[in-house]
Amino acid sequence: MAVPLFDTRTPLAPLRDALAAKAAEVLDAGRYILGPEVAGFERDLAAHLGTDHVVGVANGTDALVLALRGMGVGPGDDVVVPSFTFYASAEAIAVIGANPVFCDIDPVTFCVTPETVRAALTRETKVVMVVHLFGNIAPVEAIAALGVPVLEDAAQAAGSRTADGRRAGTLGAAATFSFFPSKNLGAFGDAGAVATGDDAIAERVRMLRFHGSRDKVSFELVGHNSRLDELQAALLRLTLPHLDEWCDGRRAAAAHYDAAGLGDHVKLPRPADGCAPAWHLYVIRHEQPDQLGDGLKQAGIGSKRYYAVPLHRQVAMRPWAGGAELPGTDEAARTHLAIPMSPVLDRAQADEVVAAVKACASGST
Ligand SMILES: Cc1ncc(COP(=O)(O)O)c(C=O)c1O
Repeated sequence: MAVPLFDTRTPLAPLRDALAAKAAEVLDAGRYILGPEVAGFERDLAAHLGTDHVVGVANGTDALVLALRGMGVGPGDDVVVPSFTFYASAEAIAVIGANPVFCDIDPVTFCVTPETVRAALTRETKVVMVVHLFGNIAPVEAIAALGVPVLEDAAQAAGSRTADGRRAGTLGAAATFSFFPSKNLGAFGDAGAVATGDDAIAERVRMLRFHGSRDKVSFELVGHNSRLDELQAALLRLTLPHLDEWCDGRRAAAAHYDAAGLGDHVKLPRPADGCAPAWHLYVIRHEQPDQLGDGLKQAGIGSKRYYAVPLHRQVAMRPWAGGAELPGTDEAARTHLAIPMSPVLDRAQADEVVAAVKACASGST
């Protein structure tokens, strides 16, 4: 039995007719930019998260740029960011003229820790960007206690909860989401959002997404054109009510892997601080990840090494890499491998994956 790396089609199948009807409704309504569906989705997501403000934007990268600017980050400021993450996390800092300062992660959780952040703080640090990588939750409160505002890059963590039930995206001064189609809450094209409980940040981000204006007549800031489409917002309003059940499915898939004995062959990702991650990607560690991936491919099982070259070793980030020594990052980059994960990955598929891992996971774990 082939098992794909992820499966976005099966969970959406029961909603297909409703989505098509809603798309037709928006086409017929003729309002495509910043209309009632965007406002409705912003209200729905704020209520779902339990926060005051959500501002819909064009994608998760713009969400980071606008959130950083909304928090007052500008040219010359330092922003601490992990090196083991998707490129957009650091790119969003550099593109506004600020300096990414790379910090290490704990390879067991794939997230930053108060210690790795403290080691990267400078006198010019304006914001710490934590990344809830793969759906795990970074320890935001302990990091905020270091005295610098925290921005959560929650692109991969929609639906993840802390041990005391709060949602990723409500823990720092502001947070960003991506609704890239393969994300936990996926749109049907690019889409993103900024969430915050801070009125001033929300107001600034709202203006920044709209050319720095409230009314397109007077322009108070040099802004961006970064708006969430009505069509995407309308469809996201239909899928958002299913996010929690899909995330339960992701957690059940992780439990299937556990029950099938995956941990006997490879190192499993560990939820940080007792949280309930909505695993966006299920990333294991092994001493020979390329060899393991090749073996899985032979067995028809999807796998992928996402961040084999961490950001501080990327060409475009050379000006900010300095002599950073990030041993946890290097270990994660060397050993990680994402294996199949989706809301509908069942026990039979998990057994198949574990049997294939067992057959080809030679050497130490
Ligand atoms: C951690 C992280 N941050 C930011 C982004 C950027 O999101 P988008 O692709 O919607 O611009 C992504 C998306 O892949 C991501 O995984």
